[in-house]
Amino acid sequence: MSVVVRVQAPSNIALVKYMGKQDASLNIPANPSISMTLDALCTFTELKWIPASVFRLDWSGLESFEGKTLRPMPLREKDRAKMERHFRRVIEHFGHPVCGHWTVSTGNAFPAGAGIASSASGFAALTLAIAAALGHADASIEELSSLSRQGSGSSCRSFAGPWVRWQGEVATPLESHFEPLSDLVLLVEEGEKTVGSTEAHQRVRTSPRWDGRTERVTDRLGRLEAVLKGGDWQGLTCLAWEEAMDMHDLFHTAEPAFSYWKPQTREILDWLARCGARTGISDHGAVRAAVTLDAGPNVHLLIPQTDELFWVSRLSRTFPNLPVLVDRQGVGARVLSLNREVP
Ligand code: DP6
Repeated sequence: MSVVVRVQAPSNIALVKYMGKQDASLNIPANPSISMTLDALCTFTELKWIPASVFRLDWSGLESFEGKTLRPMPLREKDRAKMERHFRRVIEHFGHPVCGHWTVSTGNAFPAGAGIASSASGFAALTLAIAAALGHADASIEELSSLSRQGSGSSCRSFAGPWVRWQGEVATPLESHFEPLSDLVLLVEEGEKTVGSTEAHQRVRTSPRWDGRTERVTDRLGRLEAVLKGGDWQGLTCLAWEEAMDMHDLFHTAEPAFSYWKPQTREILDWLARCGARTGISDHGAVRAAVTLDAGPNVHLLIPQTDELFWVSRLSRTFPNLPVLVDRQGVGARVLSLNREVP
């Protein structure tokens, strides 16, 4: 019997960040984090399994899926080794012998060179695809997130949505009554990062600002949970900005210091601050927008879905050459199809 499974897994954007590890071999984070799950910014993975007594794994890029043009995932040698270790880990976790001929085809629905981290969606998709192929499509969010975390930490927050909290080994859905949000991604640069996030997790510990990080995060986690229950925009705006700047301050003051920012990152942040997206208030009244950045130069602007047109046209008037991706909150990874064929 052979198996073919297709899955889709989204990326996610953290408002309280995973930065620094307590246990690097297992990707146990130094602090809990909270993220919003995305939707269209996702990875599609197709996995085929044919019985065989030996283990063989082939990778290929997926160029399109159900009419959508994808960006085949570029796998460098070290990424491939990491993915293969993860493959064996998931198979062994479900108690199966590591054998059979596996073919993985994978591609991202991010525009070419978008500079968006694909490891969260990539590892979540791979974890779910292997689980489903082995008959565990109904594994719990806790089990899948715990497994996926060991491949790449932030991927554990891509199995539920729209809001997820990750603490220790597992990520779980978080109660929220906040209105439906969009994420506008302002694409400053498309190149590869000079310092990968795994390296960043280590280097931040050398910053003098690492002292007190746990206390600052604990305070923001409490505020964010309250904000999500109560729908307080100003609270969301203030803590998102503080936390993003806190993480980038750690980068800027590490030993040796590094920065993901480009001149345009700063220009956009200054403009957004003048618009009130730092404090939640402008000269014209309340501003419903929250700013954050991942470990990269691109700026994320979380806004009510109903304000998408307003913000996109405002941004394109102010920064005419800046590409803006529009995505919305999502519900997490899912199996699209699963076929077992008896020869
Ligand atoms: C900056 O999950 O990429 O996006 O566990 O080493 O694979 P590894 O790191 P990764 O870390 C990214 C962290 C971040 C912030 C966040 O998403 O919380």
